[in-house]
Amino acid sequence: MNTAGRESERPVGVSDQDGLRTECRLVAAEDVPALSTMLRDNGVAFLGMPHAGMHRAVLRDAVQGEDVSCVVAVRGGQVVGWTVAIVYSRRYWTRFLARHPILGFIYVGSRLATALFARKSAVPEVHGPTWPRVMNREWGGAHPTVARHLDITVLEAYRRGGVATALQSAQIADLKRRGVRWLDAYINTSNLPSILLHIKNGWSLVSAERDALLISLEI
Ligand SMILES: CC(C)(COP(=O)(O)OP(=O)(O)OC[C@H]1O[C@@H](n2cnc3c(N)ncnc32)[C@H](O)[C@@H]1OP(=O)(O)O)[C@@H](O)C(=O)NCCC(=O)NCCS
Repeated sequence: MNTAGRESERPVGVSDQDGLRTECRLVAAEDVPALSTMLRDNGVAFLGMPHAGMHRAVLRDAVQGEDVSCVVAVRGGQVVGWTVAIVYSRRYWTRFLARHPILGFIYVGSRLATALFARKSAVPEVHGPTWPRVMNREWGGAHPTVARHLDITVLEAYRRGGVATALQSAQIADLKRRGVRWLDAYINTSNLPSILLHIKNGWSLVSAERDALLISLEI
């Protein structure tokens, strides 16, 4: 497996048919403004909040070496893909909301609004899976050795060239460096490209619910 990380600085990358190279590296301060806009434009939500303010705050933590692993794929100076995972996410989000009271207020408000709306809705509520307790370990970010994957996206024009695979490879190297042993993720059951990507890269199915699969990779 390739390696990447602030210490090793050995890039993971792929070359496309034109011989141009896409390099994967940890997010840097100069990436934050453009990347937060791209996350917003692609509808990426952290804690259910797809706001640029939320994205910027999480990305700043990634740059500062907090428990956020964010790897970007850069081609010709432009970010064309990214992946984000949180180490020990339960602790991270508790601390995050305490550090960002305004975002915490919005989060609590949006949870309350969702709960109220769900009660009145005629549409049946769709429940996500609950993190199982199997194989004698914690799931879903309840332990420092577990990271929870939040998102991986490659811009449409650059897909099927191995960029997501290179992003995952670079992120795994970063997580290993942080002492992480398992990377857990939810995938929507309708997202066939993502399911196939994760199967190809060695992830295992842990449990299946109506609308989502819980998958995991031992790293
Ligand atoms: C899922 C996604 C990140 C894959 O990125 P990518 O750079 O195209 O992935 P790779 O080129 O590394 O693909 C690796 C393998 O994944 C599978 N795969 C990826 N996209 C696929 C697709 N559209 N159809 C079928 N298989 C696909 C293939 O097995 C592929 O290997 P192959 O090209 O040798 O057949 C990209 O499609 C994407 O950004 N989708 C929108 C965002 C999203 O849904 N993210 C996942 C959230 S969990």
